[in-house]
Amino acid sequence: MPEQLALSQLYAKGVGGLRAAGYARPLPPDAALGTPLSVNRAYLDSLFFTPRFFSSVEADTSSKILGIPVKVPMFCGPMGGWKTLGEDALVECARGLKAAGALLTLGIGGSDELQRAVDTGVPVVKIVKPYRNTDLIFRKLEDAKRRGCVAVGMDIDHFHGRLVGDSVDLDDTFAPQSEETVRNAIAHTRLPFIVKGVLGVDDALKAVEYGAKAIVVSNHGQASLDCATPSVVALPHIVEAVGARVEVYVDTGFRTGNDIVKGLAMGAVAVGFGNSILLAWGAGKADGVRRLVELLGAEMRRTMSALGCPDCASLRKVQLQRIVT
Ligand SMILES: Cc1cc2nc3c(=O)[nH]c(=O)nc-3n(C[C@H](O)[C@H](O)[C@H](O)COP(=O)(O)O)c2cc1C
Repeated sequence: MPEQLALSQLYAKGVGGLRAAGYARPLPPDAALGTPLSVNRAYLDSLFFTPRFFSSVEADTSSKILGIPVKVPMFCGPMGGWKTLGEDALVECARGLKAAGALLTLGIGGSDELQRAVDTGVPVVKIVKPYRNTDLIFRKLEDAKRRGCVAVGMDIDHFHGRLVGDSVDLDDTFAPQSEETVRNAIAHTRLPFIVKGVLGVDDALKAVEYGAKAIVVSNHGQASLDCATPSVVALPHIVEAVGARVEVYVDTGFRTGNDIVKGLAMGAVAVGFGNSILLAWGAGKADGVRRLVELLGAEMRRTMSALGCPDCASLRKVQLQRIVT
């Protein structure tokens, strides 16, 4: 039962569960080097906290993402391909997130699965792809609004296709988006708009200027531009540049509750989880996903208590120590 599993056991069980569902690789199509993911992971692992045990407090991880209450400041990242895991895989994930008081974002995928996810009662955000056919962008945004999404957005980073083996696919489907399209998309939906895939201050400031309410500092897991600045390295610079004008989230390589604490200490409001959610689903469907969120929250509470931080906002003051061995 996922109830009894520790985080490492949940992930280990998830590999078997994903294989049993016919999912050959627990990671998305690889970049040639994959340094954004490996360096992100190494960077996170090099960050340490100084405990303040004499100042220990009861800690509460509850937070808000775009005004939506969540029990842990994390969300399920937008992921296409849920149907390859089974007709009900996304709904099972949505139910697990709903039970854990978490938020679901959706990536590439159709209206039917979006509607089924919304119907579970979990707050759903639709992240539309940067389609070359801009009409499709507007239709998908409209559809998301009509079906009850709480926010929408676009992953601006994934227009160059996907490296699969030594060839690139989907490169005709997507395209870089003009300022005009993004401004119009944001004005058109009237839902809060999230720009995902920001890695530099320049794009971050443009997203603010175009009217976004939030940005995701992200390397798209391992599937974005190889050798681009790792998101964890970019995060503090972007947070400093945008200030309180937008909420800043981060993803790529985050696996634990302590990783979330580190992300928040560097100024993020919430952290996105992709592959970890797939593993949690593989370990126990809805129960596995719920267990993952609960374990992340429990680890956060232990660390926050030891840091003397009663709530997520107070994590901003925490100084991280970087130790490179
Ligand atoms: C199977 C899979 C499919 C994905 N599909 C999308 C997508 O459709 N849109 C998108 O913006 N990001 C997509 N992503 C990227 C995730 O939203 C997220 O940025 C990434 O997985 C975070 O890194 P992590 O997996 O290390 O947590 C996908 C990731 C995976 C693993």
